[in-house]
Amino acid sequence: MSWDISGKYCIVTGASSGIGKAIAHGLASGGANVTIVCRNAVRGREARDEIVKATGNESVEVMLADLSSQQQTKDLAHSYRDTHPALHLLVNNAGVIMEQRVLTADGIEMTFAVNYLACYMLSNLLVDLLKSSAPSRIVNLTSAVHRTVRLDFANLQGEKRYNRDQAYAQSKLADAVFSHELGRRLDGTGVTVNCVCPGAVSSHLWEKSSRLVHGFFKALMKGPQEGARVPLYVATSQDLDGMTCCYFQTGQHLKFSRVRTKSTMTRSSAETYNREVAARLWEISEKLTGVCFGG
Ligand SMILES: NC(=O)c1ccc[n+]([C@@H]2O[C@H](COP(=O)([O-])OP(=O)(O)OC[C@H]3O[C@@H](n4cnc5c(N)ncnc54)[C@H](OP(=O)(O)O)[C@@H]3O)[C@@H](O)[C@H]2O)c1
Repeated sequence: MSWDISGKYCIVTGASSGIGKAIAHGLASGGANVTIVCRNAVRGREARDEIVKATGNESVEVMLADLSSQQQTKDLAHSYRDTHPALHLLVNNAGVIMEQRVLTADGIEMTFAVNYLACYMLSNLLVDLLKSSAPSRIVNLTSAVHRTVRLDFANLQGEKRYNRDQAYAQSKLADAVFSHELGRRLDGTGVTVNCVCPGAVSSHLWEKSSRLVHGFFKALMKGPQEGARVPLYVATSQDLDGMTCCYFQTGQHLKFSRVRTKSTMTRSSAETYNREVAARLWEISEKLTGVCFGG
């Protein structure tokens, strides 16, 4: 059974396309007040108009922020807190895959900054509002590829050697490690933190990173709407009330696979439960962003 999300306040980052837009659509269909975070005003407005038209819910707004910029991420959190009475759901969805090693304006490797540090910052900067609105949820988009790597603290930002797939997998591993650690820190507050892999979804992420692979596998991949199914379940299911520090993987990775379970709660890789790794990652994140637990 689903939470009654009507009138609830929700944020979805990276909702100008793909899975994020489909999650925002699902929440708007349920009557939620949805804030979609986009970095491009035109794409943001188009996504908002499309969602409003399809759902009839006018309570969808765009907030602009380039999440690779720490200042813009901080401004976004402050401005949301100043203008909204509550926050019941934060979905950290924005993500990139970068062919080359590119640094953000803050001098951080782009994949690590957008996929992980923005999630760390937004969650911590908004945690007080989530607490005062409890019961509330944070849902972080990770990926099953987190299992293919370990956190290499000597090369966390590809300083020594950069590999696109490893940088992406490492950022998604960081998301899972952080999710479990934040969940533990928020235990008993009424704020739950879970992470989810949506499966292989045909989206701009793959189109931009590997046209060839995407072109070849596109027919096998799910569309964003199908990809949003498990994240929406984790965000809104009443069955998951009070459940925290969990990892969900879609039971159906590819379009035609036989397994069509709604979702599978399963264990993430062993490293994601390592408290020493989590503490070390947290300390580095604090240093890199100046944001501590609870802002
Ligand atoms: N697709 C898959 O197979 C798959 C599998 C596992 C996990 N995931 C995860 O699912 C999430 C959504 O991915 P997707 O497949 O839906 O990809 P997508 O269609 O490329 O969507 C990514 C979203 O993130 C936004 N974004 C990127 N950089 C940003 C920045 N600096 N500031 C603000 N927004 C930014 C993009 O905005 P623009 O429109 O401006 O580019 C876009 O709205 C990601 O976290 C990804 O890692 C995807």
